[in-house]
Amino acid sequence: MNVIRSLLIAAAAAVLAAPPAAAQTAPKLKVGLMLPASGTYAALGTAIENGFKLYVAEQGGKLAGREVEFAQVDDESDPAKATDNVNKLLKRDSVDVLVGSVHSGVAMAMAKVAKDTGTPLIVPNAGAAAVTGSMCAPNIFRSSFSNWQPGYAMGEVVAAKGHKNVVTITWHYAAGDESVRGFKEAFEKAGGKVVKELSLPFPNVEFQALLTEIAATKPDAVYTFFAGGGAVKFVKDYAAAGLKKSIPLYAAGFLTDGTLEAQGADAEGLLTTLHYADDLGTPRDKAFRLAYAKAYKVQPDVYAVQGYDAAQMLAAGLTAVKGDLTRKPEFDSAIENAKIDSPRGAFTLSRSHNPVQDIYLRQVVGKENKLVGVASKALADPGQGCSM
Ligand code: PHB
Repeated sequence: MNVIRSLLIAAAAAVLAAPPAAAQTAPKLKVGLMLPASGTYAALGTAIENGFKLYVAEQGGKLAGREVEFAQVDDESDPAKATDNVNKLLKRDSVDVLVGSVHSGVAMAMAKVAKDTGTPLIVPNAGAAAVTGSMCAPNIFRSSFSNWQPGYAMGEVVAAKGHKNVVTITWHYAAGDESVRGFKEAFEKAGGKVVKELSLPFPNVEFQALLTEIAATKPDAVYTFFAGGGAVKFVKDYAAAGLKKSIPLYAAGFLTDGTLEAQGADAEGLLTTLHYADDLGTPRDKAFRLAYAKAYKVQPDVYAVQGYDAAQMLAAGLTAVKGDLTRKPEFDSAIENAKIDSPRGAFTLSRSHNPVQDIYLRQVVGKENKLVGVASKALADPGQGCSM
């Protein structure tokens, strides 16, 4: 009896003395990155991924003590494939967290799955109103903007310039439609009139007939939303049609972000509104730009910032629960109440989890979107339809 007892005591002591291997090594955190790696938004996806990974690397590859690993899927900016793609990340790769995407239609499909499964989702670009509106949920967050925000800010700018009649032109899907709606709301409130709303299906770039229509309509100004490869072509075509000289072009800043190398002189002087500019000059932004340029040998753009901040938001949530994602309410409310030290300027989240942020007026000078001023201070998306 005594022998058995001593053996048991010895065994227990050995267990206690042995390093608790499992407890010491927290399980890896698997982040599912769902971004476009092909198509008109491919470069945007790359910048977001770079930004996200830069922040993680700056933390030594770990967030709240958990080593971060990635599973990735190219969503092709195709809403029709989005539900299958997000399910691949959840079921095949068993990711803990979802990050994506660029395209509003894709992000809405992701939000639906996130809402149904309770998986944390951070949207690092897509501005669809529904994501932080009718589809809002405690576990869904955005590190970027709502499509309404830059559009609304630009509506005020264009009205203040004294323009009365404006034609809008964009891709006909959530991003373009909502950007134009935001612009129109502010512009018409200030006494202007949107006389024609032109559009073409995403991601078409056959602009010629629409540019001819603009020339015939002769508005005081044009407002547009295009981004990525399509934005490069639009700016070039607008200039080639001779319109740049006669009808001022205003845009949500995506038109000239990450695109200036390819647009060259055709973009010079363009005025846009966005939550970032290339020369903010703050210590935070300078440090970020230096680190990004060092890591990737290119200058960052707004997409890189949004990716970086998505990782900061995830870190804020994880730190609060010491890496334990089962503590969902605490994780969610830590992100909801975080003040994110963004390169764009610190921001907080609205009740529906969209950044409340300054929207800058910028002007293209050479290869940079230079800061002109703040077009709209601490602009909050109305978060229409969100109840949680
Ligand atoms: C969107 O689909 O919401 C979207 C895409 C690209 C941008 C901005 C918004 O640059």
